[in-house]
Amino acid sequence: MEKIVLQTQGLTKHYAGVQALSDANFTLHAGEHVAIMGDNGAGKSTFVRQITGVEAPTAGKIIFDGREVNFAGPLDAREAGIEAVFQNLALADDLDVPSNLFLGREKILVNLGPFSILDRRAMRRATEEALVKTAVKIPNLSNTIRNMSGGQRQCVAIARTATFASKLIIMDEPTAALGVQETAQVENIIRTLKAAGEPLILISHNMRQVFDLVDRIVVFRRGRIVANLRRDETDGQDVVAYITGAKTGAEFEEAV
Ligand SMILES: Nc1ncnc2c1ncn2[C@@H]1O[C@H](COP(=O)(O)OP(=O)(O)OP(=O)(O)O)[C@@H](O)[C@H]1O
Ligand SMILES: [Mg+2]
Repeated sequence: MEKIVLQTQGLTKHYAGVQALSDANFTLHAGEHVAIMGDNGAGKSTFVRQITGVEAPTAGKIIFDGREVNFAGPLDAREAGIEAVFQNLALADDLDVPSNLFLGREKILVNLGPFSILDRRAMRRATEEALVKTAVKIPNLSNTIRNMSGGQRQCVAIARTATFASKLIIMDEPTAALGVQETAQVENIIRTLKAAGEPLILISHNMRQVFDLVDRIVVFRRGRIVANLRRDETDGQDVVAYITGAKTGAEFEEAV
């Protein structure tokens, strides 16, 4: 069996009265691409927020890269090697594309603490290379994110994820707001990551996309993992049955 990259044990998140995530046992192996599917409000983004340090879980354990982690925040998770594209994008509206790509890890020319001088040319060059590598087309890098379309923003966020060496990439509905061409671009990035052996968690409502791209499908329903299906051993109808609850996961123990 491949090495385990990420494992959650009993991961649980309650928001004042709402059980958004209950007792999630999830495992991701080296090089594996797994889709998380489920209806609106099923707890998919909540799951992602716990494993990326955006929120602290109510209960449960997260084991990443061989050790138990308690991330203090999203930057902490990024430093550990988890790159995420969030559903509600974490881009800085008032910054241009290179500054967003390097957010939290700016290239420094002269290090004077808070008065450091940033190496803008190096960041711009690296941004151009990153966008070429990921085939993402942004008309003007100096535009602030505020002036970009939803699709362009999403492409910047995905380019950022695919640019930096990481141990795990998580994309929460990366193509939900994208046109046909941009969606194809993002799917190509995901295929490139697969070929490079980079493990990935993809949250998507798009059945065609999921069956095209991933090895395994984990279904969330009402905050619980209710199915863990190998892509080759299931079909769209089966997955929908778990999503809607027509089929239950009572017999199902752990997503491994
Ligand atoms: N900050 C919050 N405070 C209170 N409740 C929340 C909060 N965030 C999410 N919830 C609730 O937790 C549940 C799970 O939400 P979550 O965003 O994880 O769903 P999701 O599966 O990502 O759905 P979608 O497909 O619509 O993105 C929902 O009932 C939602 O209303
Ligand atoms: Mg969501």
